[in-house]
Amino acid sequence: MRTFLLLPLLLVTPAAAQQPREANYDESKAGNFTLPDPLVFADGTPVRTAAEWRNKRRGEVLRLFEQNVYGKTPAVRPFESERTSIDKNALNGAATREEVTLWLAGRQGPRLNLLIYKPNKRKGRAPVFLGPNFTGNHTVNADPGIKIAEVYDRSGVRKPGAETARGSGSSRWQVEKAIGRGYATATFYYQDVFADNKDGRAASIIPYFEKDPAPDSWNAIGAWAYSLSRALDYLSKDRDIDARRVILHGHSRLGKTALWAGAQDERFAIVISNNSGEGGAALARRDYGETVHRINYSFPHWFNANFKQYNARVNDLPVDQHMLIALIAPRPVYVTSAVEDRWADPHGEFLSALSASPVYKLLGVEGMTATAHPPLNQPVMSRIGYHIRSGVHDVTAYDWDQFMNFADKHLPKGR
Ligand code: GCU
Repeated sequence: MRTFLLLPLLLVTPAAAQQPREANYDESKAGNFTLPDPLVFADGTPVRTAAEWRNKRRGEVLRLFEQNVYGKTPAVRPFESERTSIDKNALNGAATREEVTLWLAGRQGPRLNLLIYKPNKRKGRAPVFLGPNFTGNHTVNADPGIKIAEVYDRSGVRKPGAETARGSGSSRWQVEKAIGRGYATATFYYQDVFADNKDGRAASIIPYFEKDPAPDSWNAIGAWAYSLSRALDYLSKDRDIDARRVILHGHSRLGKTALWAGAQDERFAIVISNNSGEGGAALARRDYGETVHRINYSFPHWFNANFKQYNARVNDLPVDQHMLIALIAPRPVYVTSAVEDRWADPHGEFLSALSASPVYKLLGVEGMTATAHPPLNQPVMSRIGYHIRSGVHDVTAYDWDQFMNFADKHLPKGR
């Protein structure tokens, strides 16, 4: 994803935006910083009880992220949906495949196309992995029954994807494996609701909710996160799906999105952030790999306008990303890194997961049991879970095995 998406976006960035400096990869220069304490109110008083976190501090932290980072998500608008296909005999009879259109911004607005696989062999309602995809629904599995999605090409033109791309992203989805372990899967093409470029807002779902952006308005990540919650609304009404057991997952920019969606919407039972990096799990204050300045420069449409104020003064941010993870408490959360994915700052991702632990403990549940960065390929399956695997920025079969092990361990029992 990274190489081909990053280059064209750099070319269209306004010349006025100041060029960020080269990324640092020297651990000794990653910075000496003090993280804001999730368990201290903005007025400096300590958060002493679970009730104080629940009733007051959680909302305060959420507002700080809206105000300074992702933007404010508007009130939910009712939406229409329509199932456009069903095949009860998909994947050689192992699954039922359904395709559903959601109109989140009225019938004239963008369509979100949800692709769902449900295991045919199951007792009761199925738990589901829900996550957006990068390349179109037809790329998540070679199943010839999936409608070819309209996707954006490199020059930003939206058109039907190539027949030859069917299943090209299947290693990142592992649909058969999930079905085999009793999980349903649901996905949509993330650019359905907001095209991923600096001018994407105009034709996105956002103008339907608000005309002129304010400094704290939501932006692409906010719109993608909103869509995940609406997909959950839809799935909650599906009698084959257990709405209490929805696992939200995302990779990279979509890992950032999953964390933000999971922080806001407490109906998600588990949240998984895969290689989400800057603006996701990685600590903003650590100067290693991508920085706040760099991400705002390359992707000005992801976060709100206020976030740009922190380009050169990241230590003034009233939050850091461990507090985003803390917003998911007490629900289980799983953070992953890849050792060669230095751009995403694996150690910063781990430290942030670790630093969310005090909130989990205040709420009376286990946090992260590891106290130091675990060795390669040795997953930590505590309630805040973590692994660092060998290899590059990607979602692999290994990652999926751990996602499912984590879900098996932490999901509430089925009905
Ligand atoms: C770029 C970007 C990252 C992002 C990644 C992706 O590399 O700098 O922040 O996570 O794209 O989404 O693939």
